[in-house]
Order: sequence, then C-alpha cells, then structure tokens
Amino acid sequence: MRNRHKKHAKERLDACGETVVHSTALFKDNPSALFCSNAPVHLEIGCGKGDFICGMANLYPEINFIAIERVNDVLVTAAEKVKGLSVDNVRLCRLDAAVLADIFPKGSIERIYLNFSDPWLKKRHYKRRLSHNGFLQIYKSILTENGSVFMKTDNNNLFEFSLLEFQNDGWRLENVTYDLYKSGFEPNIVTEYEKRFSSQGIKIKRLEAYVK
Ligand SMILES: C[S@@+](CC[C@H](N)C(=O)[O-])C[C@H]1O[C@@H](n2cnc3c(N)ncnc32)[C@H](O)[C@@H]1O
Repeated sequence: MRNRHKKHAKERLDACGETVVHSTALFKDNPSALFCSNAPVHLEIGCGKGDFICGMANLYPEINFIAIERVNDVLVTAAEKVKGLSVDNVRLCRLDAAVLADIFPKGSIERIYLNFSDPWLKKRHYKRRLSHNGFLQIYKSILTENGSVFMKTDNNNLFEFSLLEFQNDGWRLENVTYDLYKSGFEPNIVTEYEKRFSSQGIKIKRLEAYVK
C-alpha cells in the first residue's frame, strides 16, 4: 500500500475519541469491555483504509469489531471513516499481529479476518505471511473453541500456501473458492485492494478455516 505521509496523524487519531484504542492494556482482561455490549468480538488484521470494517459494522450491529493495522498513516484513514459512521461496534488499534497473543486473553476472539494480506513472495519471507504456521499458533491462542479465520486474497501462491498451512495444522476448511464472485457467497464486503484487483479481472480467492 502506497502511503503518503499523513499530517498530524497522532492528533487526528486522538480526535477519533474512543473509536481508537491507544493502550493495548485495555484489551487484556476482556476486549468486550471496550464496547457497549458483550457481543462476540471479531478481529480484522491489516485493516488498511477501513472499507471492510465499516461495511461489516453496518451489516452486523450484533457483533463487536476490532481492526488492527500496523501503519499509523493508514489507520488514520480507517479511523476517520469509522468515526463518520453512526456505529458504536468498532474499535481500531495500531498493532502488529505478531504480538496478539500477548495482548488478547485466550478464547476472547470469535473470528479473524485476513483480507488481501501482503503476499511476501520470496521464500525466505514466508514466515511473515499472516497465514504462516507461526501466526496460526498465535490465532489459536486467542480464538474461541469454534473460532475461525476468514481469508480473501488475489494471490494464487499465497492462497495455495495458506490452504496447506491450515490443513497441516489441523484446521477444518470450508467454503473454499478460487473465484469468489462466481461462488454465490454473499454478502461480500469489498475491500480497497479487492476493488482494485477485481477491476483488473483478477479472481478473488476465499477460504474459511475453523479451529477443530
Ligand atoms: C495489502 S494491504 C490490504 C489492506 C486491506 N485489508 C484491503 O484488503 O484493502 C495489507 C495491510 O496489512 C497491514 N499489515 C501487514 N502486516 C501486518 C501485521 N503483521 N500486523 C498488522 N497489520 C499488518 C499493512 O500495513 C497493510 O495496510
């Protein structure tokens, strides 16, 4: 994602009020406590500019959503979009997925979304892929018993890799498709990257992986 440096990013995040969580300690005991209801919590990793989380929050008011993003300048855009909505079921935080297990209690997240994660195409960088076994262990430690990871990507190599990583680690795969738009799956909330890739005629791949 190309980032132009955002002016006054910190001030703009501060201005988003309780939508942006600045202290990760607040997630520690019970992430639901950050919301007005005790609803299940879904987590998007690498939310980019926030189109997905905004769409999901509107569509599923009965779910509480946390979106994390490691780049502050991108998070600003997402936070300002969320602030512009009349929803109270989204919280955003600048956070790297690598530290999730230190931040969230065991069994506190019902679902994780990975949308168009960076593909890291060089073999020596596979460990950075958000569906690498190292990350799956982190996810399992924070997911509920029947928790799940829903993933979408444009990238065939990353998709095949992810299917194998989930399978080899004993997750149950469902609704796997190499062509999301022909699969009949709906409602599908389109992300910024998805919009770009699908407009180029690239097929969108999608999977659901469940902790067994
Ligand atoms: C290719 S962009 C996709 C953005 C958005 N999900 C979409 O579909 O349009 C990947 C995003 O994930 C973020 N990201 C990559 N690795 C991350 C990590 N380990 N933890 C949190 N965010 C990460 C990047 O900063 C970037 O904004």
